[in-house]
Amino acid sequence: FGSSITITPVAGRIGAEISGVRLGGDLEPDVVAEVRAALLRHKVVFLRGQDHLDEESQVAFARLLGEPTTAHPTVPSLDRNPHILDLDYSHGQKVDRWHTDVTFVDRPPLASVLRAVVVPPAGGDTLWANTVAAYEHLPVELRDLVDRLRAIHTNQFDYARVATSDNPDVAKKYAEVFSAVAFETEHPVVRVHPETGERSILLGDFAKRVVGLSGETSAAIIRLIQDHVTQVENTVRWHWAPGDVAIWDNRATQHRVVHDFGDLPRRLHRVTIAGDVPVGVDS
Ligand code: SIN
Repeated sequence: FGSSITITPVAGRIGAEISGVRLGGDLEPDVVAEVRAALLRHKVVFLRGQDHLDEESQVAFARLLGEPTTAHPTVPSLDRNPHILDLDYSHGQKVDRWHTDVTFVDRPPLASVLRAVVVPPAGGDTLWANTVAAYEHLPVELRDLVDRLRAIHTNQFDYARVATSDNPDVAKKYAEVFSAVAFETEHPVVRVHPETGERSILLGDFAKRVVGLSGETSAAIIRLIQDHVTQVENTVRWHWAPGDVAIWDNRATQHRVVHDFGDLPRRLHRVTIAGDVPVGVDS
């Protein structure tokens, strides 16, 4: 019998849909290997119709890819499951800018498994950008420059934004959470992927400053590179149905939600898998 798994690219440079797989903690090792290979190749993979998953089986599946972290270093997880980050946008969470998850810690996550629970009928899509393709499509002169740069990543910006939420209860809660735990770390702007050896750009919304440059020059360089990473050719866009699952390689992507759904409910559950210290090209 041949494998019934099919892997169909969704966009030219990033993203593939996997069908013929029922996710769960009991997935056969050869199927896990195929999912992992697709993830490394396509950077984000999508699986429709995984309605059978619940919080426990989502975590059990994630465990086949690595060690699930406590959901988030600063944002509270679901009380009943410490590995589930409850992305409920009706509670004022708004991470609506391009980012790589949790880059403000020394070991940013390896991957995330995101499951749609409640989504609007239209809108609320998520975009991903391929940061390897972005690096490869940089002119060689810019590649030589970014290879040598390092950047400071911090969650302080996060805090500033939620603290100005329109909802005073939300603002207060998140101000307490974020102000209590400030993270700051330094990473290479170009990291070498520990599994594929590919070079990728490590910036995103938590990158606040390029080491050694003045504020203005640093902001200009970050904007230049970020605009390049997020140009549409490097991206894929997914319109969610409940039960859809997206898995992304957090070492090779940035992502963001499209916040076009007003007050409609939108809730997704994310499990994040522990990663390693990013290694630059000269290390
Ligand atoms: C995230 O930023 O990890 C979640 C993206 C989304 O809600 O679409």
